[in-house]
Amino acid sequence: MFEASIDRGLTKPALYGALSKSLESLLEGETDALANLANASGLLADALERINWCGFYLLRGEELVLGPFQGKPACVRIALGKGVCGTAAQRREALVVPDVNAFPGHIACDAASRSEIVIPILQDGRLRGVLDVDSPETHRFDDEDRKGLEELVRILTPRVRWESL
Ligand code: SME
Repeated sequence: MFEASIDRGLTKPALYGALSKSLESLLEGETDALANLANASGLLADALERINWCGFYLLRGEELVLGPFQGKPACVRIALGKGVCGTAAQRREALVVPDVNAFPGHIACDAASRSEIVIPILQDGRLRGVLDVDSPETHRFDDEDRKGLEELVRILTPRVRWESL
């Protein structure tokens, strides 16, 4: 059984370093795309403090569709260019939003969310979806979270057979 023993007193770089190792061992030997995404969302939900939602939206045609996640039920479809997720996906760059109420077009799935970070998932230059993490606190995420989550997405991306989803 997988035991995540992430010390909550760690600095963000140390926390994400530990999470990268945990993710690698969690994915080792497993190729099922859905299982790997589901476990990645579970790992993040377990290890990150002060968050209320984390999970994946997967690119289907010209829209993002809800994938494995932890948190309250969320909106299922987000068009490219819409909301924080659709904007990050369209721009193909991470978005750190310190106050979602100040982000024009933010899509409120969980009314508790106050800040958000979205990391696009690119496989060999091809957009596959996004990783989305929400917090009930403003200014929860910073550049260290961006770098740490981008590294986790870098580890995850080649371990998921996206075309099978
Ligand atoms: N807030 C997101 C929508 C997804 S939920 O936060 C889970 C957005 O504006 O794209």
